[in-house]
Parts: sequence; structure tokens; C-alpha cells
Amino acid sequence: MIATEKIIYLDNNATTPIDPAVLEAMRPFLEEYFANPSSGYQFATRVRNAVEQAREQVAALLGCEPGEIVFTSCGTESNNTAFHSALETRPECKHVVTTAVEHSAVRKPAQELEQHGYKVTVIGVDNSGRLSLRALADAICADTALISVMWANNETGVIFPIEEIAEVARDKNVPLHTDAVQVAGKIPINLRELPLQFLSISGHKLHAPKGVGALYVNRRSRFRPLLVGGSHENNRRAGTENAASIVGLGKAAEIALAKLPDEQTRVRNLRDRFEKMLLERIAAARVNGIGAPRLANTSSVMFDEIESEAALMMLDQENICCSAGSACRTGSLHPSHVLSAMGLVNEQARGSLRFSFGRFSTEAEVDRALFVVPRVIEKLRALSPATAG
Ligand SMILES: Cc1ncc(COP(=O)(O)O)c(C=O)c1O
Repeated sequence: MIATEKIIYLDNNATTPIDPAVLEAMRPFLEEYFANPSSGYQFATRVRNAVEQAREQVAALLGCEPGEIVFTSCGTESNNTAFHSALETRPECKHVVTTAVEHSAVRKPAQELEQHGYKVTVIGVDNSGRLSLRALADAICADTALISVMWANNETGVIFPIEEIAEVARDKNVPLHTDAVQVAGKIPINLRELPLQFLSISGHKLHAPKGVGALYVNRRSRFRPLLVGGSHENNRRAGTENAASIVGLGKAAEIALAKLPDEQTRVRNLRDRFEKMLLERIAAARVNGIGAPRLANTSSVMFDEIESEAALMMLDQENICCSAGSACRTGSLHPSHVLSAMGLVNEQARGSLRFSFGRFSTEAEVDRALFVVPRVIEKLRALSPATAG
């Protein structure tokens, strides 16, 4: 067994550790207050109130009304719910617009729609991962039921200009969904000033547990639930609430909001130092998405003449956790669709590693990574057929 204190965890875009304060907030609802929040007796009131407090905490992080928050089981469910609702409430429209760099939790639902007779327009990105607003606007037509554009990319950290995208969507009168799973708690969000209909977040990306998420549904939007059954979540998501995890998400949102400005500066400094020194120590390396606005915590770096899967294994031996492309692709030899969309050829995409920092990342961990990663790259290059030739 590996002692977790030895682990250098640089994979915070895959998931984050639970904040101890989040665990403490959850504990009473795991140990003592187990009542079903829908029950009528007083014992359940405490649970119901805690769920409503969490709704207020999440709403505060997103700058919206508590009534606009629907708790779900994960970011994937939030994304699927947004698709389902938009398409069910506009049954006459058979067209969806999305981008080439979405997480599979949007890509796959969009691909499924194609099999059901929908037309899906996929907007490409440039070499820095930037989206063309013109291409987006041109893709929208009278038949468009939904635009789904992520706010920030999980692999590169590239941030899309969601304010401008929302203006385009509003001008064309088409509902907009944004997958903000990588954004919540990392950059300020004020939905009162952002004209969009749906926004997805996931607990485990902001130091809450896995298996809880939320969907923002603009109060003026028409809505159709994905899960039907009981009248939970004001008839918007059937299923007994995962009260302890919802309480955890609320606490995590409260902490993220309180720490946001300072923490983002601290994490950006760590990330920038890591990137600068890594590029100084390793020749023929380049940051994917450089030049575009990026999340402060994410560094996707392309190294010539290496296979990232081999690098991951060697870094794992040194207890360093990072990832090749998105977490879901780890172990697969396909180049990342995000990096391919940015124009990287297969070898370049497969030579890329993603390091993602978080609230619990330290200077000492960055130092250790800066010591180990260059050695691993050097070893792999010495073994590479290109160098041997
Ligand atoms: C951008 C993005 N969207 C959606 C998801 C899926 O979230 P969840 O794991 O909560 O289903 C992820 C997880 O990696 C993600 O990075």
C-alpha cells in the first residue's frame, strides 16, 4: 500500500481530495441524521434544512438564486440533463451546436443525437485551442435547439469567452449550456450577469466527494427532467437526495468562494514556476494552449520523442500522479481529441502530459516534480528510436 503523504498529486483536473472541513460538515449526515429529507417528522427537518443551506452555498458560488440549483449525481448527469431538457422543450428543433474539444460527457450525448436523426455542428479550435465566435454564430440556425460549449477545457485549461458566447446565443434566441465542471471554484462566476440557460458543475473537482453535482437552470427556462419518479428537487430530479454529499458540495462551494482570489494567485504562481523551469530544463517541449487564456492550475506540456503512457508509468514509480490527455483516456493509445483538434499530429498529442495543481499542492511538490520529470523525459528520449537512429 502507498502512503498518501508520499504521493505528489498533480492531477487535480481528474479529481480532488476532499477538504477536511467538507468531511466534517458531512459527518453528522452520515452518522446521525440519516432521515429522508422528504419525510414529515422533525428528525427529517434538520436534513432538509441542510440540503437547502447547501443550495444557498452553491448558488452563492455561481451568483444565482438557490431555486435555480438542481442537485444531481455528477457533472455527467448535469450535462445529460441539460441536453435532455433543451431538446424535449423544443421538439421541433433538430440541430445542436457544440465544439471539438468537449469532455466526453458532452461529446457522447451529442454523438448519440446524431444517431437519432439530429444534425450536430462541431466547431473547431485554432492551434491555441481558441474558438471562433464567428464560426459559432454562423453555425446557429432556426432549427438549433441547443448550443453546448464548455467554459474551460479539462485537458489544456483553455478558457472560452463564455460572456461573448452567451451574447451570441442570446442574439440568436437559442438556449446555451456550459460545462463549467473545471471552472467552478477556479474563476469567478456571476450568473446574474451571464445570459445562459444551463451550467454544470461536479463536486469532486472542487474538494467535495465524488457522486454529487449540480445543474444551474435559469429560472426563466422551460425544463424537463431527465430522471422522473418522485417530486424531489422541486420536480426537476427524481431520487432521494444524497444529503451528506450535497452538504459536502455546499461546504466545498462556500470554501472555494472564500478562498478564490488568494488561492488562484497562489496556484498560478506554482503553475507558472513549474512551467518556466520545466521548459528551461527540457529541450523540445512546449505548453499546449499557450497564448490563450488558461485556468491558473493547468499545464499541458508536449515533449518531442516520448510516449506519454510510458512517462506516466515512470512517474508513477516515483509516486507522481499526472495524466496523459484527459483522465478517461488514460490507458488508451488514442491521441487526445482535444490536442488533435488543436492541430497536434498523433506523435505530439501522444507526447503530451497534463499536470494540474490544486489547493493542497505545495512548493515542495513542485520542486520534486521539477527534479523527476526532466529525468524521466531524458531517459525516455535516450530509448526513443528517433534518438537511437
Ligand atoms: C469538463 C468536464 N466535464 C464533465 C466531467 C464529468 O464530471 P463527473 O466526473 O462528475 O461526471 C469532467 C470530469 O473529468 C470534466 O472534466
